[in-house]
Amino acid sequence: MVDLSIGTPVDDTPAVLTEALAGAGNAPGYPTALGTATLRTAAADWLRRRLGVRVADPLGADPSLIPTVGSKELVALLPTLLGLPRGSTVVVPEVAYPTYEVGAVLAGLAVLRTDAPPPDAAGISLVWLNSPGNPHGRVLDDDRLRAWVAWGRAHGVPVVADECYVTLGWDVEPRSVLHPAIAGEDHTGLLAVHSLSKQSTAAGYRAGLLSGDPALVRPVWQVRRHLGLLVPGPVQAAMAAALDDDAHVEAQRERYRARRETLAAAVRGAGLRIDHSEAGLYLWVTRDEDCWTTIEWLAGLGIVAAPGSFYGPAGARHVRMALTATDERIAAAAERLSA
Ligand SMILES: Cc1ncc(COP(=O)(O)O)c(C=O)c1O
Repeated sequence: MVDLSIGTPVDDTPAVLTEALAGAGNAPGYPTALGTATLRTAAADWLRRRLGVRVADPLGADPSLIPTVGSKELVALLPTLLGLPRGSTVVVPEVAYPTYEVGAVLAGLAVLRTDAPPPDAAGISLVWLNSPGNPHGRVLDDDRLRAWVAWGRAHGVPVVADECYVTLGWDVEPRSVLHPAIAGEDHTGLLAVHSLSKQSTAAGYRAGLLSGDPALVRPVWQVRRHLGLLVPGPVQAAMAAALDDDAHVEAQRERYRARRETLAAAVRGAGLRIDHSEAGLYLWVTRDEDCWTTIEWLAGLGIVAAPGSFYGPAGARHVRMALTATDERIAAAAERLSA
């Protein structure tokens, strides 16, 4: 079986992280929810260097960024941490990573699936964007991002962009919602979520970041302190080292680029169509049929993919194939598709 159904990294975690983690192994005291000054400085530098984003003073009294225990818990808990009013509605992408909905349901909120700002903002308390997107690898262009930012600000609704694949643009360069070309001079009403899981091959470390409007970061931080949602000290040290180093991110990116080229050529050669997929770690594939028929056909070849219907009704005619498999497994998948 070639399992391309789950997006979990398989390559070794780079030495820059493992050594920093081991070097910080003596950790008798509690870590802080705020993150060490070294980590916050490294994260602010990374945001500026890699994404062109300037956060307000990361060491200032009002935090503009905090570490998270991977980004999934933050995605799932954000509506709760922000205390969004019960019965209000969270906007999520039409085809989306399921945890946005999980977090809304957990907080007693309704969900609206849409890719365009709704004409009626009544009852909406939060907007999730995801660019590059999971499962389809779609990147929101500047106009679309600006439209959401303007809509959120006009209606006083926070707009949160999950950008955990932002360093993995292939055909386009993904832009952060916090970039000045999108957000303007300040980050009012905006948050961005980043993750080291994929870019640093460190999903096992549980290392994420939340940044943006200090008026939104502060309450999230305050509640996280009391919940004990703390990134372990050695992981904070590894995160700081990873954020200071671009070389390992580039090396991993090239591995994924090669796998993407091999798999995409084989998928197209087998007569399937790839939609979106201009960034991120997945191919969004269709044979213009119900996704379960495609899943069954792939299973016959010994390939496991994820049915698009897992990500919302609009995904029902696609399957998602992950690039997070070894070179050997990707080559095996390509060979089976070509046979
Ligand atoms: C869109 C999206 N957001 C968040 C996550 C969570 O990543 P992590 O918790 O490893 O940072 C994932 C994981 O695959 C994802 O696809």
